[in-house]
Amino acid sequence: MCGIVAYYGHQNGISISLKGLKRLEYRGYDSAGLAFLENNQINIIKNKGKIKDLIGLINGEQANIVISHTRWATHGQPNHINAHPHFSMDHSIAIVHNGIIENHADLKKELTEKYNYKFQSETDSEVIAHLIQFFYQGNFEEAFRKMLSKIEGAFGIVALHKKHNELICARKGSPLVLGLGENEYFIASDPSPFLDHTKNVIYLEEKQMAIISENHYEVKDFNGLNLDVEMEEIPFGIEAIQKQGFKHFMLKEINEQPNTIRDCFTGKLRNIEGIGIKLKTNIQRVVLVACGTSYHAALIGKYIIEKKSNIPVIVEHASEFRYRKPMLFPSDLVMAISQSGETADTLEAIRLAKKIGCNVAGIVNVTGSSIAKECGQGIYLHAGPEIGVASTKAFTSQVVALNLLNLFLNKNPYYQYEIAEELRKLPKIVEEFLKNEKVKEIAKKYFFAKHFLFLGRDINFPVALEGSLKLKEISYIPAEGYPAGEMKHGPIALIDSETPSIFILTKDEVYEKVISNMHEVKSRQGKIICICDHVNEEIEQLADDIIFVPKVIWELSPIINTIPLQLLAYYTADLNNREIDQPRNLAKSVTVE
Ligand code: M6R
Repeated sequence: MCGIVAYYGHQNGISISLKGLKRLEYRGYDSAGLAFLENNQINIIKNKGKIKDLIGLINGEQANIVISHTRWATHGQPNHINAHPHFSMDHSIAIVHNGIIENHADLKKELTEKYNYKFQSETDSEVIAHLIQFFYQGNFEEAFRKMLSKIEGAFGIVALHKKHNELICARKGSPLVLGLGENEYFIASDPSPFLDHTKNVIYLEEKQMAIISENHYEVKDFNGLNLDVEMEEIPFGIEAIQKQGFKHFMLKEINEQPNTIRDCFTGKLRNIEGIGIKLKTNIQRVVLVACGTSYHAALIGKYIIEKKSNIPVIVEHASEFRYRKPMLFPSDLVMAISQSGETADTLEAIRLAKKIGCNVAGIVNVTGSSIAKECGQGIYLHAGPEIGVASTKAFTSQVVALNLLNLFLNKNPYYQYEIAEELRKLPKIVEEFLKNEKVKEIAKKYFFAKHFLFLGRDINFPVALEGSLKLKEISYIPAEGYPAGEMKHGPIALIDSETPSIFILTKDEVYEKVISNMHEVKSRQGKIICICDHVNEEIEQLADDIIFVPKVIWELSPIINTIPLQLLAYYTADLNNREIDQPRNLAKSVTVE
């Protein structure tokens, strides 16, 4: 959940690291810091707050070897002491860490009680620095490896020793990527911090470490054996991680959707058998595991696959799935859905399914991510980097990918052809819709509301869930997503003349039913905003505001219906002056359980 940037080279690593940390701020932003080597001494500058606060503390310092960190607190409050980097007791070593050291309490007890070590912070991470000091007898790498053999949990770690012109890093469960420039090296949680320096990267695999020294790098396993690793080239440029004139990344990403939708299906429609999933067995069932927005996409997948391909689909919150006894069978196709590819619970769910021998695949955006690697097969979204914490373009691409999965499972060539044609038309339709200013107008009318309801039935129920999640996470306005037909079993008590209810309806078999639910709200003086592809007189009378969306086939309707909800959340949050790209308490990539 935290972001790491480290630099070794001939340029000023402090300014490079600070710029890099800004690009990783989506991973956490409650405190930040850096450590650098100068005349065989390590200096640390760190503070509570965002990177801009850290930049304010830099007084012209320059260094060629730097480690840095932006934090999302797990153990210990977001304050100066708990901010990374952490020193070893004798200040010879500094470390930055992303992940959780599960046995930190036992290790700390042993170091303090038996060896009189003194800890400064409340973090689980500090123990890493002390352990390296404990094992150090002149060989930094050896001490680092001994430390690795003691710690349990998830980590991406980078360490610096005052007597060694080296950076040593290791990965287990939290991503780390090496950037290979011209006589300079970078280590980061993702490639964005160094994209303007190099596109050549090595993604560290699980239980790999790297040692970087002047003009040299080595990748090893945790036993110290040298490994042959392949360099890859990042397929996108610096523009993919810049706002490009948009006020926020979220707005940029909403507007990228015509392209991201197209990029998800391009090259896959002609040969749906080749989408990237090989089944070991005939499958009896699909199990989709995911969290947050990706979970909502999975629910949409369930409606589509069950209705159109007659295959039972179970959708699971990955965090719940892991801790009960999931009934899995080798004939299941278990699919992880994840934008980041790093969500800890989703990753563990896939590991569990693999142990049981299920067919396993992923729908993932970030190439080379832990979930993508663990699944080993599946559909990449190719939506490009998603930086706004609120997921938008990844969601609509996930719905496209789930449609591709449905076509793969369906096998009917006529159906496959029909959906392929509709998919091809979709980017243009989305592009036209995005020119619509209506949602902005509606946001101006309701942005002060204290509470919102999002209501839909059938495939629009998960759309309602997604609309409410989007609104609450960036505007902090309480919002409830509910099946419209269930409202009278409880949430109807919330309706009053101040509460806007957003109905999402499509001209399908539940259209009339949803209109009846609108009556239930109207007769209690509730305000109604209606998102629909077909307006009749009844709706015109019932709704206070209507957002008309273009007609697309049922399977693709969640895409066109979600976009106005993304925009509504965005404008409502903006009118409330929220920090849209970095909402409070959240982080983009949830690599802790
Ligand atoms: O990277 P993932 O898709 O696995 O992330 C899952 C959730 O953490 C994520 O969708 C989260 O709910 C977003 N903030 C929603 O906008």
